[in-house]
Amino acid sequence: MNSKSNLCPTEIPTLWKDLKTFHDQVRAKYHTLQKDAPKKNRNEHLAEFVRFVYLDMIRHFQLEEELMNHTDYPSQENHRQEHHRFLNLLADIQTQLETHGVKQEVGTGLVALVGEWLSIHEPHYDEPLDEFLTSQYAMK
Ligand SMILES: [Fe+2]
Ligand SMILES: [Fe+2]
Repeated sequence: MNSKSNLCPTEIPTLWKDLKTFHDQVRAKYHTLQKDAPKKNRNEHLAEFVRFVYLDMIRHFQLEEELMNHTDYPSQENHRQEHHRFLNLLADIQTQLETHGVKQEVGTGLVALVGEWLSIHEPHYDEPLDEFLTSQYAMK
């Protein structure tokens, strides 16, 4: 299936800007968590981080894929596969959370996964998409 969404061209820069804001929010929360990791309320930070990342990350990937499909982004298949690989790993962690609750070892896996997303997915997958969209659409 390759049906186009109902996005209109003027919405694309706004949607991409919102998606990039999410990248910044994840990075900020990740760094806060790293900074607060040794503190005794670590599990509260982890619980908030899990809530923020899991559902919002799924939605983020859906919107990013919709945007790639809509704009005929040439590398969308590779990019989509990376999202699915990441979501499978997230789903494993979510299953562990449902079974064990937010424990440090579960949260540590999630933090490591998000760290990988920030250091690998963003520069190698999201930044080329940013360059493509910037070259095709008037980005503010
Ligand atoms: Fe992405
Ligand atoms: Fe992204």
